[in-house]
Amino acid sequence: MTATAVICGAVAWAQPKLSADNIDEVLKAMTLEEKATLVVGGRGNSVPGAAGATQAIPRLGIPGTVLADGPAGLRISPTRQGDSQTYYCTGFPVGTVLACTWNTELVEQLTTAMGQEVHEYGVDVLLAPGMNLHRNPLCGRNFEYFSEDPLLSGKISAAYVKGIQKNDVGVSVKHFAGNDQEINRSENDARIGQRALRELYLKNFEITIREAKPWTIMSSYNKINGTYTQQSHDLLTGFLRDEWGYQGIVMTDWGNKAGTVNAVHAGNDLMEPGAASETQRIVEAVNNGTLDVADLDRNVRRMLEYIVKTPNFKGYKYSNKPDLDGHARMVRESAPEGMVLLKNNGNLPMEAKGNIALFGLSAYKSIAGGTGSGNVNKPYIRNISEGLEGAGFTLDSRLADFYAKHRDYVASQSALGMGGGRNVMLGEAVLPEVAINQAAIQSCAQRNDAAVIVIGRNAGEGDDRRMVDDFELTDIERSLIRDVCNEFHKAGKKVTVVMNIGGVIETASWKSQPDAILLAWTPGQEVGNSVADILTGKSNPSGKLSMTFPLSYLDIPSSQNFPYTGQQARQQQGGFGGFGGGRGGQQNAGTRNIDYTTYAEGIWVGYRYFNTAGVEVSYPFGYGLSYTTFEYSKPTVKAKDGGFEATITVKNTGKVAGKEAVEIYVSAPGGGLVKPESELKAFGKTRLLQPGESQTLTFKADAYTLASFNEEASEWQTAAGKYTVKFGASATDIRATATFSGKAKSWKVEKLLLPQQPIQEIAVR
Ligand code: BGC
Repeated sequence: MTATAVICGAVAWAQPKLSADNIDEVLKAMTLEEKATLVVGGRGNSVPGAAGATQAIPRLGIPGTVLADGPAGLRISPTRQGDSQTYYCTGFPVGTVLACTWNTELVEQLTTAMGQEVHEYGVDVLLAPGMNLHRNPLCGRNFEYFSEDPLLSGKISAAYVKGIQKNDVGVSVKHFAGNDQEINRSENDARIGQRALRELYLKNFEITIREAKPWTIMSSYNKINGTYTQQSHDLLTGFLRDEWGYQGIVMTDWGNKAGTVNAVHAGNDLMEPGAASETQRIVEAVNNGTLDVADLDRNVRRMLEYIVKTPNFKGYKYSNKPDLDGHARMVRESAPEGMVLLKNNGNLPMEAKGNIALFGLSAYKSIAGGTGSGNVNKPYIRNISEGLEGAGFTLDSRLADFYAKHRDYVASQSALGMGGGRNVMLGEAVLPEVAINQAAIQSCAQRNDAAVIVIGRNAGEGDDRRMVDDFELTDIERSLIRDVCNEFHKAGKKVTVVMNIGGVIETASWKSQPDAILLAWTPGQEVGNSVADILTGKSNPSGKLSMTFPLSYLDIPSSQNFPYTGQQARQQQGGFGGFGGGRGGQQNAGTRNIDYTTYAEGIWVGYRYFNTAGVEVSYPFGYGLSYTTFEYSKPTVKAKDGGFEATITVKNTGKVAGKEAVEIYVSAPGGGLVKPESELKAFGKTRLLQPGESQTLTFKADAYTLASFNEEASEWQTAAGKYTVKFGASATDIRATATFSGKAKSWKVEKLLLPQQPIQEIAVR
């Protein structure tokens, strides 16, 4: 459509109005200033509380579009001035819980619901999923992310993206890439060798992009091998578009870096949240010839292609009334699929009656999700105490009263800035645990039938977790578990520990004490009900770990190359945290793990390391118990597409209905590149199987999925020879194996984003 502008009574110029089929025409009609405006975000047209927007150019029929966080639900302001309606969003399970379901179908169902909220609240893009790899358990944002394994992370993420985008809204897959620590996140240089970069840190993004075609990608704050990711042509054009065929836009993470012009050239299409100085830099650079206008035009075209897909462009009349009740029910019912039963001496499930002594502040102020931009303004959080009461238990009222009073006291101290939990950005800090004396515990053991202890942890954007008093239990928590177990066991009564945490903690030193341990994670707003459903057997847990629980933090190969470890752990308790996770005004001092981080562990992350090096762990990758048992049949495996196709039948041999995730690990033939003992190459999950019922699962992996990266040849290579396919209930519990014979195949690729100096990597094999 072409309209004609009339200025002072005279016809000035022909003005096309944007439509899906006149993008070239609109691009031609844009002034340099308008082009620069379109690639720099702005605040206008935003849904209150949305993190960002793109700017409108009404003259050309270009509307603004709205971008909001992500990833555990939509984050917008729940209330608006002068408006009695509320705009709460469902607090869904965090990313880690989704990955621990090992159920791509379920993830897609949940994010289809989440995407409905995005659509019905007038937002165009959800800034999610977060999918950096769990390189180290102390990363403050691991809860938003999925796994230590790139295949699990990539497949879960692809399902996440498909669910959201089914609603005709987009996602922004983040943070691309190497944003694996929060300390000094905006300046840290992640120094990563080519093989680890390609096999681990980019692989999950590659899978998502190829399989789910996200509308947008968010480039991270940090550098990789000396270049800011936002300004890396290798990353944003070389890998993303030339190698993987990505068609959507790239936006920066939220900050204004001086190198705007480099970012435009690199293929970073949108600067968020946007500043006038960025527009100015672009205009000046085109005018003085340091930026080729063709680069800008390329990005503007991609922006226009994005805009014509959005609900705001299409004039969608959103209702502001998503199905919050229906979504709450989904959250309650699905969270148990991502909760992991770590130990059960037979006391679970419990009959939903009797008196429970419920210990731990997080039982009375439970944690639904993490802090920072990953926090969702949800209508409520169902506490574990409420969930247990609702299920039919009677809670020890003296204990409950004590904790409620203590909770209010600590919260009031915290509000006065007098301690009471570490300061966090958006969302609430976890309140520090309170000591309970042994005499009180003894009398609790007399008057109750069983004990439940809740251990709480939270973290979020802008800071990483600590080894001391965070990864490890605090002295108060240690004594609480010990004393409660001693007193209740003396009285012949059972103890269950529930971990309401966002990231891995140490378990080896205390796990022998309680009778059962449930890793509930931070599973969304229905946390209390989901936990109660599992404890009472209404739900059968079927989550399995998407990461390893090591014996000790220092067993992790990256532990010496991460902030806050060893000596640094004690010296830096103050940290470089805060909003931007910056250095608190200090100059770049070339400090290891702060200004730069060397990924010296190479590909030896998580189970790849522990299994190959034969290092004992507390709970292995892929581990999780059920209230029922499963039998794996003899499998079939045949060579196909240069890879394989496999089947196995899983039978529920126990007494209650349940689901089982089956993990396919592959050991490659020897002789070529050094490889991990085995790697996850496929997985699947049964439907709910009734006792005695069976289901046959089929798995596929093609030649490219089996390939490893040869740095010298700059080539993906699939080795010829005998492959062993292992059907695991966890990475160390292999129930069946079969072999097939593979052919050699290779894919030559460009050398991209190479380290500036060779990285000294550890050797494991
Ligand atoms: C975070 C992003 C988030 C953005 C907008 C940034 O600080 O790193 O994950 O999407 O803020 O809130």
